[in-house]
Amino acid sequence: MREDSKEIDAFLVSLLRTVGESLRGDSIKKKSVGTKKNRNDLVTNFDKKTEKFINSEIKKNYPQATIVSEEGYGDKVQDMSGLVFFVDPIDGTMNFVKRRDDFASMIGAYIDGKPLIGAIINVMDNEIYHGGKEIGLFINDKKIDNPKDLSLVEGLVDVSAPMALANKFNVQSVIKKSSGFRVYGSAGIIFGHLLTGKEVMYMSYLAPWDLAAGRVMCEAAGMSIVSIDDSPINMLESQVVIVGTQKVVSEALKTLKTR
Ligand code: IPD
Ligand code: CA
Ligand code: CA
Repeated sequence: MREDSKEIDAFLVSLLRTVGESLRGDSIKKKSVGTKKNRNDLVTNFDKKTEKFINSEIKKNYPQATIVSEEGYGDKVQDMSGLVFFVDPIDGTMNFVKRRDDFASMIGAYIDGKPLIGAIINVMDNEIYHGGKEIGLFINDKKIDNPKDLSLVEGLVDVSAPMALANKFNVQSVIKKSSGFRVYGSAGIIFGHLLTGKEVMYMSYLAPWDLAAGRVMCEAAGMSIVSIDDSPINMLESQVVIVGTQKVVSEALKTLKTR
């Protein structure tokens, strides 16, 4: 199992290294931008091209695996048995289009429903966060320590903008108890902040590919990740999740109004 973890980790790091080089390259000046569910839900030719590339590399190396991915080139996965990869080719597409910064590419690997390896590249910084419970966590080649179990008053929180603006679940009360509020617009970038202790909580409505890689690593780092109604996380559905230090998640659950 540990050997499987090491091998998959090395594979994902090498794959995301290639993805990063390509997304920092000159060709990305030739973007074509479309919309999906609404005018701010963007998709580009690079989201599609990157997903096709990642999925084909996964299938080449792990033909037995199934893939859950955002842009429609994955499999129709009905259950979590066997080796399942979750792929978000570009996370933070709005940032990619408007700012050319603070976007990520993410891949999470699960075996029989259990988190195995997560890998997230902060593309413009060329930093890959990767690893899992069995092999530990790394940024590029450097092993990282678990973040401190800070409380709400000691740290910054990140909540998706629509959720914070609408005060969904009374989330503004949680924000007010913290050191301050940040909105980075990319789950992948925020998972990097959580893993390095720069932020202590993230709350958002997340799809499986938004969550998969970060969940593996945040759990391996001893953090807590729960759905808003405290039910088990379902990796094949979208849901509102709270990720953070143990202390902050339990404080947040006491303050949030979930019904
Ligand atoms: C989005 C980003 C954003 C989060 C949204 C996601 P995308 O991913 O991670 O931060 O709030 O829920 O959909 O669409 O850019 O891959
Ligand atoms: Ca995406
Ligand atoms: Ca995403």
